[in-house]
Amino acid sequence: MTSGIKNICCIGAGYVGGPTMSVLADKCPEIQVNVVDLNVARIKAWNSRDLSKLPIFEPGLKEIVERCRGENLHFTDEVEKKISDADMIFISVNTPTKTSGVGAGKASDLKWVEACAREVAKFAKGHTIVVEKSTLPVRTAEVIKKILEASASSVAETKNASFDVLSNPEFLAEGTAIKDLEDPDRVLIGGENEKAIEKLSDIYQRWVPEEKILKTNIWSSELAKLTSNAFLAQRISSINSISALCEATGADIREVSRAIGTDTRIGSKFLTSGPGFGGSCFKKDILNLVYLSNHFGLPEVANFWEEVVNLNKWHQNRISKLIVKKLFGTVSGKKIAILGFAFKADTNDTRESAAISICKDLLEEGALLKINDPKVSPEQISQDLSQKILTDKINKVKNPINQTNECCYFFSDINKAIDGTDAVVILTEWEIYSKINWSEVCKTMRKPSWIFDTRSSISDETLRTIKKYDLNIWRIGDGSVK
Ligand code: NAD
Ligand code: UDX
Repeated sequence: MTSGIKNICCIGAGYVGGPTMSVLADKCPEIQVNVVDLNVARIKAWNSRDLSKLPIFEPGLKEIVERCRGENLHFTDEVEKKISDADMIFISVNTPTKTSGVGAGKASDLKWVEACAREVAKFAKGHTIVVEKSTLPVRTAEVIKKILEASASSVAETKNASFDVLSNPEFLAEGTAIKDLEDPDRVLIGGENEKAIEKLSDIYQRWVPEEKILKTNIWSSELAKLTSNAFLAQRISSINSISALCEATGADIREVSRAIGTDTRIGSKFLTSGPGFGGSCFKKDILNLVYLSNHFGLPEVANFWEEVVNLNKWHQNRISKLIVKKLFGTVSGKKIAILGFAFKADTNDTRESAAISICKDLLEEGALLKINDPKVSPEQISQDLSQKILTDKINKVKNPINQTNECCYFFSDINKAIDGTDAVVILTEWEIYSKINWSEVCKTMRKPSWIFDTRSSISDETLRTIKKYDLNIWRIGDGSVK
């Protein structure tokens, strides 16, 4: 399979651009792949000799970077040069929710995408295929095309530039990005020009079976990405709503999930109740769908999807309220261990993590937090909570908690994080948390001690043995523990 594409430039070296291009380079050694970013520090981190310092943690990523970097995979801030060398350009920049102006709080902010289109228009040479990899509102391709065409007609004689625009949304999930990229459920390519679609399809066919490559019109492709995230998030809000009902009635959400998931029409995936969905995509993409629905005069459709986000917010807040209630109505001055800060396991990403809102609620109530996460840095936690954070490692203080008036501490050791606390709150499903020896650990806690397990990290079997110790347990959606 030969696509004729020799040189690719990806604009944006983030959670999508970095892993996506690493896998592409690994699968297509004959293509030179350049990942560019304005963020010089990020590029520097991608070029770190010490592979544990790559800016993104994903299982399997560092092995690929080690194999391909410097061969046909390059990370650079030479945006202009790499755009002009490329015959295919992926736009993989951030598209966060607008914070001000028209559509603030819902619409996607497309300023970075527009900036990319203008850079491509300015520097591209010859015929270039521009691929939307970022998640974009329906009809964004039109905007990109207009910018490119306006430029092409004004400088056509000097640069001989012409463009095709394709939509190729990314469906990877963080924590399983490499697996998702190497063996995707499907690859979606939306476009008008069949030749351009075939060129991109040929690249994917190096490792993806042809029947998994779906070709659609460009608008269907853009909308399918938003809809896919909305459906996934909707399942999580649905199961989380039922977990509250389980707690009230004596049912168990794990049993309910298993029972409904065996119906092949429903399916068993994405039915795990947790502390509420986080991550950079779900909330942003649903709000974008809400904005678009309102824009097209469909308020009922907008309201339907907005409830998925509202339920998620309510659910996170319900958990912090419940913790306060169980701890005799006040956490003021109490030490609480927070196990896990990433929005899910196997990533260092904290964007929209439920831990942020739950920790903020607890801090507001006056709690002292002792936080542990295997991959998230204390600096990141400090930034997310807008709090100074003291750490056992960086400050080299043996027991910092007794020596300051700060209310946020980071412990790289789980046992130290739990030592002396009234409660432990498990917020990320890191595997190590399911292996904690509670019979030992609980001896170091202040009595009466509580465990709040929002991730079902404590198995039914462990739960049975834990009940023998002097410990109170609350497990998400478990009506049998009161
Ligand atoms: P990110 O914030 O991690 O990375 C985006 C990068 O683009 C940043 O490093 C930024 O500096 C760079 N950038 C912005 N404007 C630039 C410009 N003009 N020139 C050069 N570099 C520029 O974002 P991400 O998580 O990789 O997401 C990128 C897109 O992919 C978003 O639209 C997102 O919705 C979508 N997406 C994300 C995921 C995910 O799991 N994170 C999955 C699927 C799709
Ligand atoms: C999501 C989509 O899955 C992916 O296809 C898209 O490209 C980007 O957005 P991501 O946000 O990385 O991926 O992770 P995902 O596994 O979807 O988890 C999102 C959130 O939902 C996490 O906070 C996770 O803990 C939570 N979740 C997921 C649950 O609470 N229960 C579940 O059953 C599944």
